[in-house]
Amino acid sequence: MQHRQNPKTFRVKSFGCQMNVYDGERMAELLAEKGISPAPEGEEADLVVLNTCHIREKAAEKVYSDIGRLKKADGSRPMIAVAGCVAQAEGEEIMARAPAVSMVVGPQAYHRLPDMIERVTRGERATDTDMPANAKFDALPRRRRTGPSAFLTVQEGCDKFCTYCVVPYTRGAEISRPFADLVQEAERLVDAGAMEITLLGQNVNAWTGEDHAGRPIGLDGLIRTLAALPDLQRIRYTTSHPNDVTDGLIAAHGEIDKLMPYLHLPVQSGSDRVLKAMNRSHTAESYLKLLDRFRAVRPDLAISGDFIVGFPGETESDFLDTLNIVEAVGYAHAFSFKYSPRPGTPAATMGAQVEASVMDERLQRLQAALTGRQIMFNTASVGRECDVLVERKGKNPGQWLGKSPWLQSVYFDGDAAIGDLVRVRLVEAGPNSLRAELIRQAALTPG
Ligand code: SAH
Ligand code: SF4
Ligand code: F3S
Repeated sequence: MQHRQNPKTFRVKSFGCQMNVYDGERMAELLAEKGISPAPEGEEADLVVLNTCHIREKAAEKVYSDIGRLKKADGSRPMIAVAGCVAQAEGEEIMARAPAVSMVVGPQAYHRLPDMIERVTRGERATDTDMPANAKFDALPRRRRTGPSAFLTVQEGCDKFCTYCVVPYTRGAEISRPFADLVQEAERLVDAGAMEITLLGQNVNAWTGEDHAGRPIGLDGLIRTLAALPDLQRIRYTTSHPNDVTDGLIAAHGEIDKLMPYLHLPVQSGSDRVLKAMNRSHTAESYLKLLDRFRAVRPDLAISGDFIVGFPGETESDFLDTLNIVEAVGYAHAFSFKYSPRPGTPAATMGAQVEASVMDERLQRLQAALTGRQIMFNTASVGRECDVLVERKGKNPGQWLGKSPWLQSVYFDGDAAIGDLVRVRLVEAGPNSLRAELIRQAALTPG
């Protein structure tokens, strides 16, 4: 391997979940602090970080084809780092198969990127897929820049071992970041301009910690503390697991105005037989009962979920149970996927794998049902007045785009700026967004 020059510019490309987006932002901050600048839009970077996702099929293949395409105009290659969950799961293979890759860095080790870059400039290749809990957070620079809506990872990893899923292997065991660190990071995000913070975790509602007085608290306690930050207007959290929902979290939805009326609570399937084979440890009925309790304290709660069709052994009747739960819940939004066998997971070697054509057909039917529910939810919002947090300019001049409390995309014309919290009336619904009329700047809590 030849010696390389120190990179002057970088680009981080993140794939997969919001936690990867958060990690991507933190890597960018770290590199910037080490004097490497973000490459301007449209310009080639000296260092490219592919922050990868391993959740479904072809993830690794996509990484190899991305690597192949990373060539500069003069034919040379940028310094390439593969980060994220594919790095964690297939690091050694990547090093063996892709000589263009200089660094492989797992999701818990990226705070060591600057050292790794230095080794690469000395002519080495560097791999780091250690999983030291919390170490990366301590080693990262403080938060300085953010848009109006910011992510904050509070919990990482997963102990649930759903039989189809790679996350427990790529992200490791469940850990909660300490309360004081989170409050501090939230304060800094707010100082840097965040109006909304979304607390992130693979199982965010499994977060536990101790408050300033040393009392044990759960996610609801953390939310309560953050709600007291005067300049923070909105709090969200994702993703939750049905088994980690506490009474306190449900109550928080009825008590904390800044906690937005939105809940992402994946169910995966409506069939108890399939849920059992998935090792989900909840049933369709226990899931529905849980949602009833949330809705009792917050009737306008928007519910969102994840679904998998074609899990091994799924019959037409199991699939109909999934369609039934979609009707019973009335989702505002959902993600749906074809089951994808992941090497090393128990489901990958289960019998009765479902044929691709059957999966395709079921996914189409499920998505039609989900889109129908989403349109119903959006249509039912027409006529409502609500606050919108303005996140960016719209397509047309004078148009703005933001989010409603129920996480709907809302666009409107008028006098506003990014970061404004404005009052609007929702006037027209589409499947993916709503048009609104501006009423006025929303009244902010103190000041
Ligand atoms: N921790 C979250 C989500 C993790 S991954 C949870 O438990 O809900 C996001 C979604 O990807 C999952 O909810 C699931 O619907 C989907 N997924 C995970 N593994 C999959 C696989 N092997 N095939 C298809 N979809 C999968
Ligand atoms: Fe994967 Fe299940 Fe953990 Fe979610 S709860 S990350 S689906 S193992
Ligand atoms: Fe993908 Fe890893 Fe997130 S596998 S979904 S990037 S936790």
